[in-house]
Amino acid sequence: MKEKIDQILNEINELTCNSISEIEEARVRLLGKKGEITALFDEFRSVAPEQKREFGQKLNQLKNAAAAKIEEMKQAATAIADKVAAGQVDLSRPGDDYPLGSRHPVSIVRQEVVEIFRKFGYDVAEGPEVEDDYHVFEALNFPPDHPAREMQDTFFVTDKSQSNPILLRTHTSSVQVRCMETMKLPIRVICPGRVFRNEAISARAHCIFHQVEGLYIDENVTFADMKQAILLFAREMFGPETQIRMRPSYFPFTEPSAEVDVSCNICHGKGCNVCKGTGWLEILGCGMVDPNVLEASGIDSKKYSGFAFGMGLERIAMLKWQVKDLRLYFENDLRFLSEFQAEI
Ligand code: DAH
Repeated sequence: MKEKIDQILNEINELTCNSISEIEEARVRLLGKKGEITALFDEFRSVAPEQKREFGQKLNQLKNAAAAKIEEMKQAATAIADKVAAGQVDLSRPGDDYPLGSRHPVSIVRQEVVEIFRKFGYDVAEGPEVEDDYHVFEALNFPPDHPAREMQDTFFVTDKSQSNPILLRTHTSSVQVRCMETMKLPIRVICPGRVFRNEAISARAHCIFHQVEGLYIDENVTFADMKQAILLFAREMFGPETQIRMRPSYFPFTEPSAEVDVSCNICHGKGCNVCKGTGWLEILGCGMVDPNVLEASGIDSKKYSGFAFGMGLERIAMLKWQVKDLRLYFENDLRFLSEFQAEI
């Protein structure tokens, strides 16, 4: 009997009704002649005399709670009904909109890049943000004292003079290495992620940003394949008229290496302040994976070749929306973020 009382009490606490007739139904179900509580009062007659006091009290509490709840719901319903009758409430009015959240611009761009490469048959891979020196530098052909290490100001987690120190990855190229170590050939993979560099924060530099790395390794992969993949990507991302150009560059992990510019989609090559009058915008670095890098991860460089590329997502977002202060991407100011609601 005790359980039954508790169970009905719970039911009463959670009871909601949407109309006066529903309230009446609830009253009959609980307190009517054949109601659940009325039935308990019948049962009460056969309770042992020494328990009568305890159960009697509980039953009365239950009955009062049910009556009070029903009365409260009735009053609320009548108040609304009165307002409706007086024309103060328009029940046909559409409800209020819930304010919609929006996706972060970097997340929107990442998704776009990933979707484009997914269509080309690339898988998505992620790797750790806290990495070791081996995956960020050594396996990518940065010898210990190579000046290129200085190009990327590294946050070290452990003492940098120990062997293979732990650090925050400075680029997503480290995920390339992890893919080469673990995936079966051929590899066609895209690796989005957050990277860290010890830079003073300004409108043009930040200590945290995002990159997407791409890697394609198979037999007979050529520079022409790379150029075509990047051209197709650029046209999907920036529009079908987009042109690309490649400038020779240097990265320790690719040979030859190039930087890729896309034709400025604002002035269409005429020259504007976004492209600084050149008609071109730099979007990524790329190159043919250096045979040393393939060999370091156990891939036969005589049989396989491949290309890699890396791009900054904030940079692409800047080009897309003309937001030139990098800090805005990290401050999470709602006035800024809500401008991207339409992009969902
Ligand atoms: N890891 C380079 C950086 O952070 C970007 C990059 C350049 C990645 C060339 C590549 C590449 O895979 O081939 O600046």
